[in-house]
Amino acid sequence: MKKTRFLIPALSLAIVVAVIGLASTASNENEPAETTTENVSQNEAIADSPFDKMMAVLTHKRCVNCHPSGDRPRQGEDSHLHNFGVQRGADNHGLPALRCESCHQHENNNYSGVPGAPEWSLAPSKMAWEGKSRVEIARSILDPEINGGRSLEETVKHLTEHELVLWAWEPGIDASGTPREKPPVPVDEYIEAVKAWAAAGAPIPEQ
Ligand code: HEC
Ligand code: HEC
Repeated sequence: MKKTRFLIPALSLAIVVAVIGLASTASNENEPAETTTENVSQNEAIADSPFDKMMAVLTHKRCVNCHPSGDRPRQGEDSHLHNFGVQRGADNHGLPALRCESCHQHENNNYSGVPGAPEWSLAPSKMAWEGKSRVEIARSILDPEINGGRSLEETVKHLTEHELVLWAWEPGIDASGTPREKPPVPVDEYIEAVKAWAAAGAPIPEQ
């Protein structure tokens, strides 16, 4: 039973890849020789700056669902409010009767669909990212008043090593049996981008 769940998406992915492959070979043959590969790679170079890559991850729902602006976590690809009326509580671990850790364990439970990682709890309200632009988020992670007094080095360490961060690339399967979406940048590229951005002096663009 469990296998078919993976086999079907894997098969349909293979078909999609094959079809795209065919389509792109066909269109390449029809296009003039001087296709705009150069322009394309230039554009990609801009969109792929370390800051762009890093912020494509930080603004993804796997992070933002747990860095919400209100007092309730969000869930799923549509970031709906957490079921069961779960609240932040005084210590960000929920109200006494409904603690995060009573459902969330140290690892994903792919049978019940409850995601898990060590220290599972809500990011403090001052670290809310929901509704913020990537520039605002970047400023806030560099601000010791907001980021828990972290130096740039400590922020890089959190961004590249913390288990709640890395969970986003092993997000498990949701309660309906669907694998959760991963951030749009592979984890090793993301880690490289964060380090390159910091090494360049953590520049924040205008927008
Ligand atoms: C399960 C909830 C959860 C998830 C998912 C989560 N975080 Fe957090 N995050 C927290 C908590 C709790 C803190 C506060 C911990 C602390 O300050 O030590 C935090 C703090 C942070 C901080 C440090 C504070 C700051 O403003 O600089 C950064 C950076 C951060 N998270 C990045 C991320 C990124 C990137 C992702 C997604 C790839 C992510 N988090 C996903 C719960 C989460
Ligand atoms: C009664 C059990 C229960 C409690 C208590 C609970 N959760 Fe959850 N949580 C779940 C379940 C079940 C899911 C998965 C729902 C799904 O994906 O269909 C979930 C999903 C989440 C997600 C969504 C991850 C994503 O990106 O889709 C976050 C974030 C989250 N919980 C945070 C918390 C936090 C923080 C607390 C404590 C303040 C908490 N939860 C308390 C059961 C619980």
